[in-house]
Amino acid sequence: MKHLIDPTDLSVKEIDNIINLALNIIDNPDKYSEACKRKKLATLFFEPSTRTRLSFEAAMIELGGNVLGFSSADSSSATKGESVGDTVQVVGCYADIIAMRHPKEGAPMLASMVSPVPIINAGDGGHNHPTQTLTDLLTIKREKGNLSGFTIGLCGDLKFGRTVHSLIKALSRYENIKFILISPKELKVPDYIITEVFEKNNIEYREVTTMEEVMSELDIIYMTRVQKERFFNEADYVRLKDTYILDKSKLKDAKDTLSIMHPLPRVNEISTELDSDPRACYFRQALNGKYVRMALILTLLGVNV
Ligand code: NCD
Repeated sequence: MKHLIDPTDLSVKEIDNIINLALNIIDNPDKYSEACKRKKLATLFFEPSTRTRLSFEAAMIELGGNVLGFSSADSSSATKGESVGDTVQVVGCYADIIAMRHPKEGAPMLASMVSPVPIINAGDGGHNHPTQTLTDLLTIKREKGNLSGFTIGLCGDLKFGRTVHSLIKALSRYENIKFILISPKELKVPDYIITEVFEKNNIEYREVTTMEEVMSELDIIYMTRVQKERFFNEADYVRLKDTYILDKSKLKDAKDTLSIMHPLPRVNEISTELDSDPRACYFRQALNGKYVRMALILTLLGVNV
């Protein structure tokens, strides 16, 4: 049985297959509309979510399946003291596949060790978010045409941003990608990403503190929100939250072919004046999340259409 806990649980080949399946679903939605008939997806969200949970649910519904679950720890038996391991052993009796989000890093991994059904990590603390990464890869594929040979600027909270950590790990396996890490010094990527991913694989990366100094080089800019909920100190959050605000003036030197991505939710990182710019692809990215989750559910359930 296959789980998806870390983006590298999938080989590059498996990721390519999922992306190709998602592209096929986009072109032929009717073909898949009963693929998961009588199957159930449980969404166990111990932490808030809009896109991830609802796109998982929409994905299962569009595959003809059903969904059950909870959207906050408060409405689950976690409040009574039940362990994550017990919760998934029980939910595994009711559902065929589980998507779980949890504030504790490693909770979905722990769940996968005892679960009778596939577990999908839908975000664990500041650690990983592999299905956002699949969403991002499908978006890059659709916007750029391929998954190699570009310069990507990752901007904002690179310390706590789990989408950034997972995306770096996944992209590090493709050819000729340059990474520019744009963050205040307090929010740089964790050391393990530098040593275990960039240095170990001899990948070109640079750390800078302003987006203006690198804008003209970028093919993709991936904006992120400062992760308020992971700060120990409110004053630090308030000081850092608006470090980067992308607006028309900041795009002065940008390429016409730049893709502006954001996993969302947006707070202030991108001015709404850019929403109508054809380079802004964050809402298309959110839609891609549904298609790629449809492809992932089919893959983990072993359903062939
Ligand atoms: C992200 C997350 O939960 O990490 N949201 C999402 O799933 N699209 C990004 C964020 O919350 O900032």
